[in-house]
Amino acid sequence: MLKKKISPSMMCADWMNLGRVIETLKECGTEYLHIDIMDGVFVRNYTLGTDYIKALHRATDIPLDIHLMITEPSDRIGWFEIRQGDYVSVHVEADRHIQRTLAAIRAAGGRPMAALNPGTPLCFLEEILPDIDAVLIMTVNPGFAGQKLVPGTLDKIARLRRMLDEAGRPDIEIEVDGNVSFENAVKMSDAGANIFVCGSSSVFSKGGDISGNIKKLRESLTAV
Ligand code: DX5
Ligand code: ZN
Repeated sequence: MLKKKISPSMMCADWMNLGRVIETLKECGTEYLHIDIMDGVFVRNYTLGTDYIKALHRATDIPLDIHLMITEPSDRIGWFEIRQGDYVSVHVEADRHIQRTLAAIRAAGGRPMAALNPGTPLCFLEEILPDIDAVLIMTVNPGFAGQKLVPGTLDKIARLRRMLDEAGRPDIEIEVDGNVSFENAVKMSDAGANIFVCGSSSVFSKGGDISGNIKKLRESLTAV
């Protein structure tokens, strides 16, 4: 059973108090910081960027979970400062040479993660299992916070877990990203996810403070 890990979506953090947010996340034992990179083409939005990644690397030792929602990632991996142990996810829909890009992430010291939009079938992963440490299942259509779960993605998580275990890769982690609310996180965990990208639906929800929200989320994930 893979450890349940929390990866707060930093695009949803209070940008005016980022230092304090990062301190709190560190105190809460947050396993990753999720960094959404968007180019306005692969998704119709811009969010965080290359300098933001560098600033976080200097501000904290929490590993980053860099989500590249960009076209032509193979040409742009070198734009990003990747620290040993950072996850870097690229969308299989965005890259004609996905295997080469995943290998380049590993060569740069990162942990490669393949990302799939809700409409992309799991068979896109068949030939790249040797090249990844994790799969990112988008549980919303990417680009914006505050969206609602695409219901069919829960079954997709379960099918993926079975597919990975049957392929002899129980070590490959499953990350979920999008409307990871306190309720949805439990369903996603039961289906087989173990890394939770938490944004406005949970960790940064207005319903409580960060520490209390993380405590509530961890308790719901470990409840039998
Ligand atoms: C979606 C973003 C996520 C997430 C934000 O493209 O990548 O970071 O949806 O969190 P929620 O969905 O809870 O607002
Ligand atoms: Zn993301």
